[in-house]
Amino acid sequence: MLTHELAANVAVPNDLEAFWMPFTSNKHFKQEPRLIARAKDMHFTAVDGRQILDATAGLWCCNAGHGRPKIVEAVQRQVADLDFAPSFQFAHPKAFELASRLAALFPGDLDHAFFTNSGSESVDTALKIALAYHRVRGEGTRTRLIGRERGYHGVGFGGISVGGMVKNRMWFGSLLTGVDHLPHTLDIQKNAFSKGLPEHGAELADELEKLVALHDASNIAAVIVEPVAGSIGVYPPPKGYLERLRAITEKHGILLIFDEVITGYGRLGKGSAAEYFGVQPDLVTTAKGLTSGVVPMGAVMARKHIHDTIVGAQADPKVIELFHGYTYSAHPLACAAALATLDTYQEEGLFERAAELAPYWQEALHSLRDAPNVIDIRNIGLMGAVEMSPYPGKPGHRAYDAMCKAFHDFDIMIRITGDTIAMSPPLIVTKAQIDEIMEKVRGVIEAVA
Ligand SMILES: Cc1ncc(COP(=O)(O)O)c(C=O)c1O
Repeated sequence: MLTHELAANVAVPNDLEAFWMPFTSNKHFKQEPRLIARAKDMHFTAVDGRQILDATAGLWCCNAGHGRPKIVEAVQRQVADLDFAPSFQFAHPKAFELASRLAALFPGDLDHAFFTNSGSESVDTALKIALAYHRVRGEGTRTRLIGRERGYHGVGFGGISVGGMVKNRMWFGSLLTGVDHLPHTLDIQKNAFSKGLPEHGAELADELEKLVALHDASNIAAVIVEPVAGSIGVYPPPKGYLERLRAITEKHGILLIFDEVITGYGRLGKGSAAEYFGVQPDLVTTAKGLTSGVVPMGAVMARKHIHDTIVGAQADPKVIELFHGYTYSAHPLACAAALATLDTYQEEGLFERAAELAPYWQEALHSLRDAPNVIDIRNIGLMGAVEMSPYPGKPGHRAYDAMCKAFHDFDIMIRITGDTIAMSPPLIVTKAQIDEIMEKVRGVIEAVA
């Protein structure tokens, strides 16, 4: 393949055709590529040598920043020592060490970790564990799964079935059967420009009672929600909403799954949203920040009774209790990356740092309120979204143009969804860099006015 060298000393292929890029407008990207060569701390280096400020932690995942020495060294050492070990009927020590660390990190008795390689796999795993749990307990009629409109739970068939983003679902047939959705919680009319949790909307959790009345609780296995809806454009839950959802699920014996693929590992200034909100789910799905994005990995945290029910159901110790797992579950490189990432979070106090920065982040973000076409701003922890009105008749295009201009003209990476700009910087961000992010984003918004 022909290549040429650019300023960042990286060989760039001349032919971009063969890579069918995920969740990307392939045609336009290939006309005007946004190519990244390196990353360090808060910055990417583009192939032309420009420093690009990372306002998105990559894809909501590089919570410790980029190229962090402890994580890099741990992965380098691990690949030389043990490149692979199977996790079916064999294992390696770091898998157990990591599981114990996670059991200590997640609140209450979320004491067991099932390892996956992504958020999507974590979601499918959690849904399967929920079904298996009820079946083992003799409540095998509990098969219905309930998600929420506009929810994002990855791209497996389980995840898109309980998910609620229409474009992710509409192409792919009948999906899982027996799935319902709660209403989403965005109410711009009542809650626009809320700082932190919106006041209105806790009663939307009561819609679950209607689904119980319709189907009967004896047919419902689990409810899955993102405690803060992320990918749709940062919807913090209305005050009291998650507590109500927990009360109703508990009353009816329905498992509550928090999808914490974004909110886990410090994004809200705590190890998890479950801890942040003081609401105890039965299962938690995670990925992304677990390894700070360095090696693909996910983990499903299960409460003790769920694990014990499934594993304890088999009297014969030589029988496999759960027929589920991935070739790369607890991959040694991922475990090494995760352990070093957790060390980095702890040694540098990054969760606490995120909590301390959150008020500054909030005020800085809301300073964009008077920028042109801004119709809502939402924030929680170190997550933020600026929603713009669409160009007339062209939904999504204003934000798309904003993303391109941000990268090419303002040297900043932002994430877009619909006409919303979403931001989630690495937790190492400084106040000066928060100011820089807002200044650049204001410039971007003005440039697409
Ligand atoms: C809440 C949530 N669940 C699941 C996923 C899917 O994760 P992955 O892309 O690693 O499969 C994401 C990804 O953004 C997510 O935000």
